[in-house]
Amino acid sequence: MSEWYKQDLAFIHDVGFGDWALKSASGILEILNRSQIPEGLIVELGCGSGLSAQEFTKAHYKVLGIDISQSMIEIARTRVPDAEFRVESLFKVEIPPCNAVISLSECLNYLFDPDNNSQTLVQLFYRIYNALTPGGVFIFDIAEPGQVTPGSPSKNFTEGEDWVVLVDKEENPESKILTRRIITFRKVGEHYRRDDEVHRQQLYKAADVTAKLRQVGFEVETTQSYGQFHLPKAHIAFIAYKPA
Ligand SMILES: C[S@@+](CC[C@H](N)C(=O)[O-])C[C@H]1O[C@@H](n2cnc3c(N)ncnc32)[C@H](O)[C@@H]1O
Repeated sequence: MSEWYKQDLAFIHDVGFGDWALKSASGILEILNRSQIPEGLIVELGCGSGLSAQEFTKAHYKVLGIDISQSMIEIARTRVPDAEFRVESLFKVEIPPCNAVISLSECLNYLFDPDNNSQTLVQLFYRIYNALTPGGVFIFDIAEPGQVTPGSPSKNFTEGEDWVVLVDKEENPESKILTRRIITFRKVGEHYRRDDEVHRQQLYKAADVTAKLRQVGFEVETTQSYGQFHLPKAHIAFIAYKPA
């Protein structure tokens, strides 16, 4: 379970790519508030390094965070000792009875777990529906097709004080699979250590996901933003209610 978001990429994601989790948190808390969920258990699927979990615990929710990356969970446990974290695949984990399930930053798209496909996605929706208390809410976002202009793979880099990450993205328009080749360099002592990862994501169309959620029994709203945080292009968020 440790081929992705290994030590260096987990560190870099935490220090350099925390905006999605941090800037979404207040918008998510507003949704919970207007859904009359002022307290209780949030299960966070793909919780990463615990940035949003920390905001939820500050707002007095209990949090159970699940992530397939051991390195992400190690950071999360240090950051949020009051929450519980488990290294597991969200496609297999037993989801306990809870008031909300949250999954931020396209976690459901990743093909790290080879069992992720459109059938297991529906099974996941059923498992979440059954775990939620009546009136509970499932809030998550996905990446849609259109991440990369067809025929023109994108290459870019991001740098921090003691690290740099290079990303090459390619999207297959037929299979709707996005492949990100990621190279990290992180300063360790006097030298930079290189590591490589390949992340594959299945891209889903919003209308297909909405239909699957409705099939399961959810009442569904979609949005382009969590509060003040606007999702990047070709992303959409779902607020799916289990009827009270
Ligand atoms: C882009 S990161 C987002 C992390 C966090 N939600 C945030 O916003 O900072 C995607 C996360 O999904 C996790 N992930 C991907 N597939 C997973 C799976 N099958 N089960 C659990 N976690 C998974 C990755 O390990 C990674 O931490």
